[in-house]
Amino acid sequence: MSDENPKPDLPPHPALAALRTNRNFYGRVHGKTLRPAQRRYLSEDLPALRLRGVSIDENPEREKLDLQAALPGDGPLWLEVGFGGGEHMVHMAHANPQVRYIGCEPFVNGVAMALYQLRETPCPNLKLHPGDVRDLFDVLPGTVLGKVFLNYPDPWPKARHHRRRFVTPEHLEPLFRACKPGAEFRVATDIADYARQTLEEVPQAGFVLERDTGEPWADWYSTRYEQKALREGRVPHYRTFRTP
Ligand SMILES: C[S@@+](CC[C@H](N)C(=O)[O-])C[C@H]1O[C@@H](n2cnc3c(N)ncnc32)[C@H](O)[C@@H]1O
Repeated sequence: MSDENPKPDLPPHPALAALRTNRNFYGRVHGKTLRPAQRRYLSEDLPALRLRGVSIDENPEREKLDLQAALPGDGPLWLEVGFGGGEHMVHMAHANPQVRYIGCEPFVNGVAMALYQLRETPCPNLKLHPGDVRDLFDVLPGTVLGKVFLNYPDPWPKARHHRRRFVTPEHLEPLFRACKPGAEFRVATDIADYARQTLEEVPQAGFVLERDTGEPWADWYSTRYEQKALREGRVPHYRTFRTP
């Protein structure tokens, strides 16, 4: 994801400037070659659906976002970190129309999958940042988040890569600063060592563990990623943390 190495099959659309971050990002931003229809969703739909002023290119001064302009209303603001194919995000945003929902995902194929679902199920209360959530944290105006979903974050199984996990201070501290008092932070993972690190590091950032179970939340919506984990015999942990 650098200027020197442009992804050749991304449509040359200014909306994709938002994919760029100047941070170290170790995950994948691109998978299989996008189908023509997916390229069309990115060209035609993403400009109206994405949050402006998040990427460093678009907002080099890192001015705070005008959330009222982007997501009008006074409903609670929810964030989904790494929405993958978008199944949980689209379901939740549609089921909670009073909520203002932001989804972040740097993997362009996942963004295209979400855009396909949003053609079928439009969600006027949803905005996407097709990039790194850390860029969003920079520009959120104060303590605004009422609920945050971290569903099956990248596991980074090798010990030398554990510091790349989301559940590290680099991510958790700005997340905590963006949460309102009493905000809910949900973490689902199927990786035992990720579950361990979550229990260690999330409270250190200030969150309080409220619920820790193998049963999903009542309003949970399973994703293909979770279904694969279940088929392969992995055991999900569903944890809820709260800010004081
Ligand atoms: C294992 S997938 C799970 C996808 C989805 N949440 C689900 O449960 O089906 C983790 C996702 O987190 C995304 N991700 C990783 N680092 C991220 C970051 N810094 N900001 C936003 N998303 C990130 C990855 O691109 C990937 O799509």
